[in-house]
Parts: sequence; C-alpha cells; structure tokens
Amino acid sequence: MGGNSFGKIFKITTFGESHGVGIGVVIDGCPSKIPLSEKDFEYAMARRKPGASPADTLRREQDYVEIISGVFKGFTTGTPITLFIRNLDIDSSPYERIKNIFRPGHADYTYFKKYGHVDYRGGGRASARETAARVAAGVVADKIISPIGVNVIGYTIEMGGIKAKNIFIDKINESPFLCPDIDASKKIEKLIDVVRKEGDSIGGIVEIRVIGCPAGLGEPVFDKLDADIAKAIMSVGAVKGVEVGLGFSSAKLKGSQNNDPIGIDGFKSNNAGGILGGISNGDDIIIKAAIKPIPSISKEQDTIDKQGNPVKLKLKGRYDVSAIPRIIPVLEAMIKIVIADHYLRFRLNKWNGGFKI
Ligand SMILES: Cc1cc2nc3c(=O)[nH]c(=O)nc-3n(C[C@H](O)[C@H](O)[C@H](O)COP(=O)(O)O)c2cc1C
Repeated sequence: MGGNSFGKIFKITTFGESHGVGIGVVIDGCPSKIPLSEKDFEYAMARRKPGASPADTLRREQDYVEIISGVFKGFTTGTPITLFIRNLDIDSSPYERIKNIFRPGHADYTYFKKYGHVDYRGGGRASARETAARVAAGVVADKIISPIGVNVIGYTIEMGGIKAKNIFIDKINESPFLCPDIDASKKIEKLIDVVRKEGDSIGGIVEIRVIGCPAGLGEPVFDKLDADIAKAIMSVGAVKGVEVGLGFSSAKLKGSQNNDPIGIDGFKSNNAGGILGGISNGDDIIIKAAIKPIPSISKEQDTIDKQGNPVKLKLKGRYDVSAIPRIIPVLEAMIKIVIADHYLRFRLNKWNGGFKI
C-alpha cells in the first residue's frame, strides 16, 4: 500500500490502523535544534480527540503522543522523528456482525476491490483515527512556521445548511462546533440533537485562514502552493471539495470584479485567497473545505455483502453526527505541514542569494 507519505523536505509518513496497536507518524526533514517535548502535543491532540463536542463519537482515547526518535535532551536532532499514539479504547465487537458487509459511504467496497480484503474493525487504515498522526505532525510543523509569524486558524462557516453570518475569530472557541457566529452555533446545536435522534448525520463547510504567510512560498508548476494545499486537504477523509479565495464563485465574475487591485500598501482586496501563480502573495491564504455527512448512520440502508448478496444494513455502535468540528484541527495540521514544507523549500531556493524573510 503506497501513498502514505506527503511533503518534499518536511516529509511525513503515517502508519497504523484504527483498531491496531496504535498509529503514528515518521517526520523526515525536520531541522535540528527545535525544542520539542511530549507535552507540546497535548493541546492539539485534545482538540481532535472525540468528546469535545455534542457531534462526537463515544470512543474515548487519551491520544498521548510518545516521542520514539529524533529528539535528544528536549531538542530535535535533524534525524527522523517518530511519534506514536497507542489505541487504548478499542471495541471491535460491533464490527464482527458486519464484517462481510460493505458500509455505504465508507471505503470498505473500494478497499476490497483494491486489496482483496477489508480491515472491518473501524475501517482500519481508512479510519479517521489515522488523522491523529497528522495532528501530531502538525504540532512539529507549527514549530517551524510560528517563529516566522504564521498562524493557521480553522472554523466552521456552515453546518447542516446553517450558515455563519458573522465571522468573529475571537468567538470560535466559545462554540462547540468552532463556529465564529454564536447565533448560528446555537441553531447547529439544536439541529445536531434532532439529527442524532433520527440516526442520521450532517456535513458542512470549514474555512481555514493562514495569517502572516510571507510572499514567495510555492513551487511552480506542479508543486504550486494551492495545488499542494488542495492535495493536503483532499487527502483527509470526508472532504469533498476545496476552494482557494473566491473559488467556484470567481467563475461567475468579470475580470474587473475578480482581480485584486494593487496599491502602494499592497493588495486592495483578497479574492485570490493569498495565492497568485501558485505562489503566496503575502495576504491571508483563505481555503474552504466541503465536508460530507459522515457515512456511519443508524438509519437502515441498502448494500451488499462480499458475495454480492443484497443486505439491509442498520448500524449499531458508537458514531459521530458530524466530522465537524473534529476535522478542523486535522485540516489546520495539514495546512501547517504544507506551509512548513514550502518554507523550507523557499529557504533552500534562496540560500545562495542570501535572501532573508
Ligand atoms: C476527523 C474525522 C472524523 C470522522 N469521523 C467519522 C465517524 O465518526 N464516522 C464515520 O462514519 N465517518 C467518519 N469520518 C469520515 C470517514 O472516515 C470517511 O468518510 C470514509 O473513510 C470514506 O472516505 P471518503 O469520505 O473520503 O470517501 C471522519 C473523518 C474525519 C476526517
């Protein structure tokens, strides 16, 4: 199974399955002398793990990150960093009953077609559990980009069709769904309650903003910053669309409406979402991700088993109502990884010129 690595200089490789011993990440290319301890991971891991929001699953994991390699006396050494997170709250019993059945909306059918087998215990490698390793890698990436003043913030701008009308960044943490509009957040809370009782799920839209990104990051032509961002975001389960800046709405505009005029103090608007020609322009990078309703629902659904026989499936077990808000720290982490990778590549490009940002 290939495809487990991402990045060129700051390169991550994740490993592990939902109901295996644990999951983790190897980070190659992290510079030396960065202070790093197991405590550094606690805040980020707590934001991703289930239990913080009424939309979450009932699985409870400690998500303690163990540093296995690459750190000596509290500092990175420049050698591969291995981070390991044990799976402690595993209950595979609900999956025994459905081990030969393909769950609609899940990766069971396609994994079976590709590998001839499915890890039915919580989806194995396709499980959102894998994203804990990405969040841990994001903590290390943040250690590279926060000293240069880059801040990555994600929040919910729509959930179950309810839209945030006002975006007050300082209100995000007051909402269990990380929604910057408290009125919208209250409506979402009521909707979640109804949807949970119906045994159904909802999706939404998450916006991620990169503040303080220097101009010049991105490698035309195939490793454009927006191309790598799109790949990073689309590699997260349940993401079904990515927009940069005005995205799909720009298709409806005229050039005179869409262009960002440039003045002596910089760009006068930011329809481009902070990227031009695949290179950051110094403005905020604005990304939107469309998140589908999570597939595990307790409503009855039509499917087939491995022999192709029709089955009426009614899932019983511990399921989320939405991947939002848990997906937000994952998306933030992926963006941090992209920015860290491109920042290191930028420094390499400019090495001989002695260019400093
Ligand atoms: C943070 C996060 C949490 C998720 N939680 C669940 C969940 O509780 N139940 C579920 O059925 N799917 C959940 N998903 C989505 C599935 O993992 C995903 O839909 C499935 O693997 C199929 O992949 P695809 O939607 O990208 O096609 C979650 C995804 C993420 C990123």
